[in-house]
Amino acid sequence: MGHPVPAGQREEALNTLDFAKRKAANDPIAMVTCYDYWSAQVLNRTNVDCLLVGDSLAMVMHGFDSTVHATIDMMALHAAAVRRGAPNAYIVGDMPFLTMRRGQGCAMDAVQTLMRTGVNAVKVEGEAGQADLIAHIVESGVPVMGHLGLTPQSVHAFGGHRIQGRNANQAAQILDSAKRLQQAGCFALVLECTPRHLARRITEALAIPTIGIGAGPDTDGQVLVLQDMLGMDPEFKPKFLRHYADGCNMIRSAVDRFAQDIRAGSFPTKTEFYA
Ligand code: KIV
Repeated sequence: MGHPVPAGQREEALNTLDFAKRKAANDPIAMVTCYDYWSAQVLNRTNVDCLLVGDSLAMVMHGFDSTVHATIDMMALHAAAVRRGAPNAYIVGDMPFLTMRRGQGCAMDAVQTLMRTGVNAVKVEGEAGQADLIAHIVESGVPVMGHLGLTPQSVHAFGGHRIQGRNANQAAQILDSAKRLQQAGCFALVLECTPRHLARRITEALAIPTIGIGAGPDTDGQVLVLQDMLGMDPEFKPKFLRHYADGCNMIRSAVDRFAQDIRAGSFPTKTEFYA
């Protein structure tokens, strides 16, 4: 409270209770990943609703081949930087690989570390075997966003990044898990790479909003990885992804022009140095 909002930045961020209101009002939620200070500053000037410090940062920012490599220290470092860059934003931080599976103490330590970076909520992948722990986190005053479908921390069990819920059994399991997550107190649910009809069934069955990635148009919101939507890797174009910019070529051409200007002696000119 109290700090001035610079021109162009959002006046008022969402709060946790607004998510259900947005679903009830049929007002779609726009979420995007954010991993660092400078992109948080840029996103804080946009009208996106929510920033996700996703554990996908292990791949996008650190070059690992899966999110299994994200640690709580990595998550905390990135989350704190995002909060500094976007002081008004609603920020969700991912609970990294296995932090929910090594007992309540381990999970609560990770939750505490993440929340103290300044995020508003944590996101947890999966439901099986951890609904009680999720309820405990919620009862402790920490908002939890669920995540079902293709949960990337289970990539090895899935045999790759594959669509989940294609057969009737799998679909029924995901629907049951979604209901149990709502029961446990989750305020929203990410659905990743499920068939459209399943995402729609889940969205209709829940009072909390679903936020889809590769789950079709019927969810209550959409999320994309920032670097993916900016086209930072022009070759990465799964079916569900839309490139909103040609980011790779934009940066490449700017840096090439810079190098060219130096070689041509045209940078800096007399307005660009201190006499
Ligand atoms: O880590 C992440 O970026 C995510 C989104 C893809 C939903 O969980």
